[in-house]
Amino acid sequence: MGRDTQADHVAAVPRQGVSENACLIFSPKEEEVGALAKVLKIFESNGVNLLHIESRSSVRFAGQYEFMVECAPGGNLAAAIEKLQSITSYLQIITRNHKDNAGAVPWFPRRIRDLDKFANQILSYGSELDADHPGFTDPVYRDRRKYFADIAINYRHGQPLPHVDYTEEEVDTWGKVYRQLTELFPSHACREFNHAFPLLVENCGFREDNIPQLQDVSNFLRDCTGFTLRPVAGLLSSRDFLAGLAFRVFHSTQYIRHPSTPYYTPEPDVCHELLGHVPLFADPAFARFSQEIGLASLGAPDDYIEKLATCYWFTVEFGLCRQEGQLKAYGAGLLSSFGELQYSLSDKPELRPFDPAKTALQKYPITEYQPVYYVAESFEDAKEKLSKFAQTIPRPFGVRYNAYTQSIELLDSAPQIERLCREVGHELRSACEAMRRVC
Ligand SMILES: [Fe+2]
Repeated sequence: MGRDTQADHVAAVPRQGVSENACLIFSPKEEEVGALAKVLKIFESNGVNLLHIESRSSVRFAGQYEFMVECAPGGNLAAAIEKLQSITSYLQIITRNHKDNAGAVPWFPRRIRDLDKFANQILSYGSELDADHPGFTDPVYRDRRKYFADIAINYRHGQPLPHVDYTEEEVDTWGKVYRQLTELFPSHACREFNHAFPLLVENCGFREDNIPQLQDVSNFLRDCTGFTLRPVAGLLSSRDFLAGLAFRVFHSTQYIRHPSTPYYTPEPDVCHELLGHVPLFADPAFARFSQEIGLASLGAPDDYIEKLATCYWFTVEFGLCRQEGQLKAYGAGLLSSFGELQYSLSDKPELRPFDPAKTALQKYPITEYQPVYYVAESFEDAKEKLSKFAQTIPRPFGVRYNAYTQSIELLDSAPQIERLCREVGHELRSACEAMRRVC
């Protein structure tokens, strides 16, 4: 593949300065000694500080090097990028400030530890409660929420998940929810959920008198599908939340709803996460489907993030499926709500087949039961449909999760795609060899 034209530049020059960290990936045009020093001078002369520099053999151009630098806010990054364009054969700009930077790709985490970067970027709740929150006037509950927000914000990738000593009152609230929901699971939840739930009872302390610890649950999920949990202080943006799924990481709250309203919560809490979400993350097909939404979201334009978040809403949160001719629930919003779980399987709501292109445009209420639910044929089928939909997302590269390095690989050149094909070929040969031995 040629490497000498401006056509390789994925991003145009930003229209204005960048106020948040930006990542630049580039290959110098000239393979000369001191190419990096020349580049670093450009940043220095434009007052741009670098937080991180990485160099590696280029995956795009054989025998060449490429660099990844993370720039701190400040300085004249736009001018630095303009200069860089004249001395690089490849330049990719990834920034959270993408709206002000024509052609820039919205920032997304490349390594699993990058998830630490948005741990404190909570849209709402956390320790600050709205005036209509059941715990708003309860100082003890508010203090407790501050404790949970602090441990989530201070958590860093690789640390043990915070162990919480839940109070008697908190366990009592959990017990009420647990008793009520577990009555409905056998008849209302999908097969995969009912397969996993007893395993969680056996391995992770799912009992009405015990709130399971995130670490135990995360260990269990890792063994089943590679999914892990990390604590979150409140609601993340859709972009950040979905990005976690690309790494098979689920952001989970650890606090519990206010004891005055055990059967109602205006926000996700530990009952919703553990009783609604967790069982299905132990299912390989569901885990693949969830990761597929996450991978599709990386670097996607804002309107597609909204579409993917809507697909997430109507599947992972409020999805129904048909099994042996019967309607069953697999969405966590349903499986953690006694009332809506029954309602969703009644003849009241409207049912439509899951079709990402159409589902993505459906408006929905967030404070009342859903008037419309989407029915998936199976998790595999839903994943296939979502993969097809993801192909329509305008993005100048493909992505792939490398589970060995826990990082996202950008696929935007022939050599990378060739390497991927070789790896897939190797896997296929292993499968054929095994088949030959077995059959
Ligand atoms: Fe949820």
